[in-house]
Amino acid sequence: MREIIEPFRIRAVEPIQFSTLEQRRQWLEEASWNPFLIDAEGVIIDLLTDSGTSAMSAAQWAAIMIGDESYAGSRSFRKFEAVVQEIFGFRHVIPTHQGRASEKILCTVLAGPGKAIPNNNHFDTTRANVEFTGAEAVDLVIDEGRDPDSLHPFKGNLDPTKLRAFLEKCRAGGREIPFGMVTITNNTGGGQPVSMANIREISAIYREFGVPFIIDACRFAENAWFIKQREPEYRDWTPKAIAQEMFRHADGATMSLKKDGFGNIGGFLALNDDALAEQCRNILILTEGFPTYGGLAGRDLEALAVGLHEVLDEHYLEYRAATTRYLAEKLNAIGIHTVQPPGGHAIYVDAKRFYPHLAPTHFPAQVLVCELYLRGGIRAVEIGSVMFGRHVDGAEVPSDRELVRLALPRRVYTQAHVNYVAEVFAETFAERNSARGLEFTYQAPILRHFTARFRPL
Ligand code: F0G
Repeated sequence: MREIIEPFRIRAVEPIQFSTLEQRRQWLEEASWNPFLIDAEGVIIDLLTDSGTSAMSAAQWAAIMIGDESYAGSRSFRKFEAVVQEIFGFRHVIPTHQGRASEKILCTVLAGPGKAIPNNNHFDTTRANVEFTGAEAVDLVIDEGRDPDSLHPFKGNLDPTKLRAFLEKCRAGGREIPFGMVTITNNTGGGQPVSMANIREISAIYREFGVPFIIDACRFAENAWFIKQREPEYRDWTPKAIAQEMFRHADGATMSLKKDGFGNIGGFLALNDDALAEQCRNILILTEGFPTYGGLAGRDLEALAVGLHEVLDEHYLEYRAATTRYLAEKLNAIGIHTVQPPGGHAIYVDAKRFYPHLAPTHFPAQVLVCELYLRGGIRAVEIGSVMFGRHVDGAEVPSDRELVRLALPRRVYTQAHVNYVAEVFAETFAERNSARGLEFTYQAPILRHFTARFRPL
């Protein structure tokens, strides 16, 4: 088979700012060993997130020029609405500035104290929006989804047995489930896909219990691609037809168009229920804007309408999946353990096995994040005890996982950039025994990973 190439030519470029080891050492020290606090100009390859960091196409930039900025009834909104309805199939399209705004509106209307919202794994902002209302965010991913070495093709699946048992328990106890979710792909679980069979099955269970089914659709195109590759029934379907079929089983979706919308900003909440949509639009007017622009400018709506079609292109999706797989294979060849199989948008490196000599209370994943920055100017994100551990009575209670996420922005980095990342990893791995742990010098009471400060032990 021929090599899978980047399915685009590069028309506009952005120079990378290079730096020396000494400069990076100084910046890392000034940032107290937390790369979130380093200016982006000091980063050579930024793998912090795939959100809002994609490259727009020439067609998207061209669309920006014809944005209609009318306050009410904008032509650009009608175009956006038609594209979302075509792919996602929901009657009501409510534009928001990003995914969490959609979650916030939905939770404000439907969630509340004592209620519970099931999901395969709630993403951080979804969990925070659910919990902020006093409701409980319940994660019911299949057991294989928690095992980093399992090669299950759909590790993002929501466990139907666990779901049924949970819904029965809630019904018996008179506990309200205002809506149920599934996140495609499952970011928190490693960017793992959810199968069509699973979507169909959990949809039937939600319907049986009268629970509206909402899909967190951030990476819906990547999920559709995995279904095409791994579920034989869909081998000959287009990604768009697969996407349409996925959403046919749901009552609505929350979406961050900063992912599979190729947008630098954008999102929507889409619903079928007329009364619910009306309530959500009322909150939208309060917090985002008038229903025909919501949180966005007309030009953004234009660019996103184009992006939503581009993201379903088979050559693009083939290249996208090949990129994460290529990086994972390079790291695995060095002897580095990553969550298997590689996810759609990111690679998750197991820092516990990278630094077996470092205790979880010395934050091995944060150490690896710092080493990658120091040696190669690569910025990644810690998903371990800094993010999910807890500080109780002056002591650290670590998380059960110590991962480093390398998220790949869409259409931004070339194969040579990915080779560079692998080279920096090889060097870091070769010298892993000399790595020292970190300890906190400052931590905020909530979401501490963003602002934490450390010092080396
Ligand atoms: N749901 C999922 C699955 C996400 O990954 C994100 C964002 C959101 C919802 C919220 O969307 O950022 O537009 O408000 N994930 C980014 C990340 C931030 O880096 O994984 P948003």
